Amino acid sequence: YALHPLHTFALHNQCQNLVKITHLEQLYTQSFSSPFCLLGEGSNTIFLNDYHGTVIKMATKGITITPRETDTLISVAAGENWHALVSYLLDKNLPGLENLALIPGTVGASPVQNIGAYGVELSKFVESVEYFDIHSKKLVCLTNAQCEFGYRDSVFKHGLKNKAVITRVLLALPKQWQPVLSYGPLKQLTNVTPRAVFEHVIQTRNSKLPDPYTLPNAGSFFKNPIITNQQLATLLKQFPDAPYYAYGQNEHKVAAGWLIDNANLKGYRVAGIEVHRQQALVLVNHGNSEGKDLIAMITYIQHVVHSRYNILLEHEVRLINTTDECYIQGDVT
Ligand code: EPU
Repeated sequence: YALHPLHTFALHNQCQNLVKITHLEQLYTQSFSSPFCLLGEGSNTIFLNDYHGTVIKMATKGITITPRETDTLISVAAGENWHALVSYLLDKNLPGLENLALIPGTVGASPVQNIGAYGVELSKFVESVEYFDIHSKKLVCLTNAQCEFGYRDSVFKHGLKNKAVITRVLLALPKQWQPVLSYGPLKQLTNVTPRAVFEHVIQTRNSKLPDPYTLPNAGSFFKNPIITNQQLATLLKQFPDAPYYAYGQNEHKVAAGWLIDNANLKGYRVAGIEVHRQQALVLVNHGNSEGKDLIAMITYIQHVVHSRYNILLEHEVRLINTTDECYIQGDVT
């Protein structure tokens, strides 16, 4: 089966088997014995090579809305599209998620990475996440705390990796709408309504982030690195313009896009893979590229960033090799 239509970075590789889950019953008869890879719309996963296993694409549908005293509970099947959900809820006068508009991918994938944008993370709204346990073949429900959410992180990337198939996400939207306008471009809004925030987020994203279905990409490629106060002081001494944000008490997040941009890597190319000219944190694939080209690109960026700033960049996008996920931590010496 061709993998390029299944992941938005669109490398031309194949997989041995492909299963599309449209009904939960299918999970009970699915064998999880050979290597398998769970996929929604493939907007944060890249297949570097041919995959010697089964790709399981979650495509279940359904949204139920339950009003409660102070909030509304939204239960959403894993295969629903995230942006369509945000838009649908706004049409129903159920705001809250507008800062997360236009994030590509499915609802089922959203807790894995704890998607976030413009000052809001998904974890703020998660009441619980339901998953199918592949060993016990039972549905299990995790509370928000049990999901162990962090910056682009959750238990689904660690303790439950390769053990759980997310089937539903339950979101609690407070009836009292509270806009989050802390992020730069949103501060300028004068007429603050959910619709205005939604539209402004869409406009901001469209001005910087390439549409993955027009120009293949996987969104932010690297995580914004988290560094100590000491490391930040050293960085700012040499690069006083580097953007940074507080992260907890003793740490800071620095903008990886700025680090890459300031190292003059915008437009840098390996085969058809290019550092995007509008947002250096995004790698785009113009075609005729292979996994090895992407690895060369990642390794080069990590090397340049490390030698210039003494900071290690970790890729946020998940990379899949022939049978398993892999992490590139190139030669940074
Ligand atoms: N910057 C540059 N040059 C660039 C890119 C960025 O100087 O080429 C500077 C910007 O001017 C800004 C700072 O770096 O001062 C941060 O850039 P931006 O606001 O574009 O956001 P980001 O930190 O690059 C993160 C998320 C995005 C999310 C935006 C908005 C990560 C890895 N990325 O990007 O999420 O949309 O903030 O909240 O945390 C994604 O995860 O795929 C994603 C797109």
